[in-house]
Amino acid sequence: MKVLVLGASGATGRLVLIQLIKRQINTRIVIRRNSVLPKEIEENPLLEIVRGNINQMTDSEMSDLLRDCNAVISCLGHNITFKGMFGNPRYLVFDAIRSISETIRETGDNKIKLILMSTTAYTNTLQGEKDSIGEKIILSLLKLLLPPHRDNIKAADYLIKEIGNDDEKIEWIAVRPDTLINSENESSYHINESPERSPIFNAGITSRINVSHFITELLLNKTLWQKWQCKTPVIYNNSEHIK
Ligand SMILES: NC(=O)c1ccc[n+]([C@@H]2O[C@H](COP(=O)([O-])OP(=O)(O)OC[C@H]3O[C@@H](n4cnc5c(N)ncnc54)[C@H](OP(=O)(O)O)[C@@H]3O)[C@@H](O)[C@H]2O)c1
Repeated sequence: MKVLVLGASGATGRLVLIQLIKRQINTRIVIRRNSVLPKEIEENPLLEIVRGNINQMTDSEMSDLLRDCNAVISCLGHNITFKGMFGNPRYLVFDAIRSISETIRETGDNKIKLILMSTTAYTNTLQGEKDSIGEKIILSLLKLLLPPHRDNIKAADYLIKEIGNDDEKIEWIAVRPDTLINSENESSYHINESPERSPIFNAGITSRINVSHFITELLLNKTLWQKWQCKTPVIYNNSEHIK
């Protein structure tokens, strides 16, 4: 198995990378020229590093990136700086998911698993999820005022509405963590089909390391994959407190 990870230099992507390497999985990552990884990861023989910007790749660079890969994981997200939130690329995540998907559809020989790190602020209406009036007002304001939120919505919508449930080449899962926290160790967590609490008025917490564990399990555990395929599972830590 070979996995392509996008956003591997980020807080969660880095943990996904460690999980994959720990499980002896060949991994290719694409990171920006100035991104830094810990030396011991960078030198791991299971890891292939491509330097460049995912949103500036040509069609042929894109298909090189996907060569021999069975799965793609996106942990991309906008940097929490003024430029990262309001500058270009406005649709970092959506554009990457769309161009990866188009390349798979055009050039891929085998079915590819695609995992998107999404958010509980995405409401899966096709699955019957409904926001309260207060949530609707705040989520609409966020969508209007916060480009990264708009981007996350567009990326998940693309998988649900554009790729859908029976694509010939792509199987996908959009994992929705609640408020992300950093924890050193994995802890117990649970997965729901839909949010069990309001992401706006009563948000829960999700450790990035638990997200990385669940994402890797999805790839390695066939039954788990089949259970969540083409769905938007929500992940919460079992403990509501930061350990
Ligand atoms: N914060 C929360 O509570 C929360 C909750 C649920 C979901 N989420 C979502 O989860 C996702 C991952 O979160 P995270 O905190 O792990 O992300 P993060 O640490 O900010 O990592 C983002 C990754 O995207 C890359 N990136 C950013 N701007 C880029 C650009 N212009 N071109 C290419 N690559 C770029 C970064 O690369 P560099 O290292 O080069 O900057 C990094 O690898 C995000 O989409 C976020 O919205 C967040």
